[in-house]
Amino acid sequence: MASVPWFFSRKIGIDLGTANTLIYVKGRGIVLKEPSVVAIRKDTGRVLAVGTKAQQMTGRAPDYIALIRPMQDGVVSNFNITKVMLREFISRVCPVRSLFPLHAVVSVSLDVTEIEKRAVLEAARQAGAKAVYLVENSIAGAMGINLPIEENEANIIVDIGGGTSEAAVITLGGIVSKNCVRLGGEQFNSAIRHYIRKKYSFLVGERTAEEIKIKIGSALHTASKQQLEVRGTDLVRRMPGRLLLDSWEIADVLSELVASIVKSIKKTIEDTPAELINDIIVNGIIMTGGGALLKDLPQAIAKETKIAVSLAENPLDSVVLGTGKMLSSLDLLKNLA
Ligand SMILES: Nc1ncnc2c1ncn2[C@@H]1O[C@H](COP(=O)(O)OP(=O)(O)OP(=O)(O)O)[C@@H](O)[C@H]1O
Ligand SMILES: [Mg+2]
Repeated sequence: MASVPWFFSRKIGIDLGTANTLIYVKGRGIVLKEPSVVAIRKDTGRVLAVGTKAQQMTGRAPDYIALIRPMQDGVVSNFNITKVMLREFISRVCPVRSLFPLHAVVSVSLDVTEIEKRAVLEAARQAGAKAVYLVENSIAGAMGINLPIEENEANIIVDIGGGTSEAAVITLGGIVSKNCVRLGGEQFNSAIRHYIRKKYSFLVGERTAEEIKIKIGSALHTASKQQLEVRGTDLVRRMPGRLLLDSWEIADVLSELVASIVKSIKKTIEDTPAELINDIIVNGIIMTGGGALLKDLPQAIAKETKIAVSLAENPLDSVVLGTGKMLSSLDLLKNLA
């Protein structure tokens, strides 16, 4: 297959995430970035939309439509819908019928069980992949940002996704210590919604919670308080209303989740063999994943760990870029399908 021109290439890398699915096609680069959401009719089970179109229905869909996020906390929670979603995404970027078998490298969370791995494997296979290779998010992310992972030098990579936060120390091509907590950007949103409901008896939708997080959310108190007015439902008056929020209260809401992430990073560092700690201090912590974009999160982690923290150039793309790099050395990976 190595000599096949790119337009016949049937080698793809997939970052099957809780929040977003990305696909890299060999020779073409990243060709798909879509939210991991499927809209179905509740009565017939018919699929109405997959990806962005389904996402746009969030909070607006009539009762007969269910919006399903088939990946939860980094693992397959609805097998059939994951398969349908993957098949749809793959068909958008590769011809469905071809003489060339489809090879797929799929990244998975660090913390998955054998059964959870099987589910990803089987979903990819049933979605059309003839050969499937699984790779851990951290290894893919590290390759995606060009860390020298094969060398005798340790690096620590922290990926904060939609449903998982993973820290891994990598050296000589392998992971020497790791920790994963099943919380990420989606739990930040839930915490914001829950707080607003409890404190103000006010209901905001999922998209509003995401907007609050992105616009005024932060892992530390910002020097000056920022404010944001949001719309939602006043549960006391049972009427639509507006609410003014400030950045400090949102930072307080997120602080417990941020502390859990910090704790898991510290644990990973503690579990690292002493001879490698110096490399980590010198190289610093590098962050990937969309959740890493939470304002001041790198600063909060640096403050607690006393290690410098930097953000990858394109945190949302790092993992899929890494799966893409692996397409050139598939013979080194184990075909699991
Ligand atoms: N500017 C931002 N500020 C804060 N959070 C952000 C920002 N941009 C994206 N996010 C969050 O990043 C998360 C998605 O990141 P990513 O695509 O890396 O997750 P994923 O790979 O789908 O999830 P996982 O790896 O946990 O399975 C979402 O929760 C989203 O709200
Ligand atoms: Mg991810």
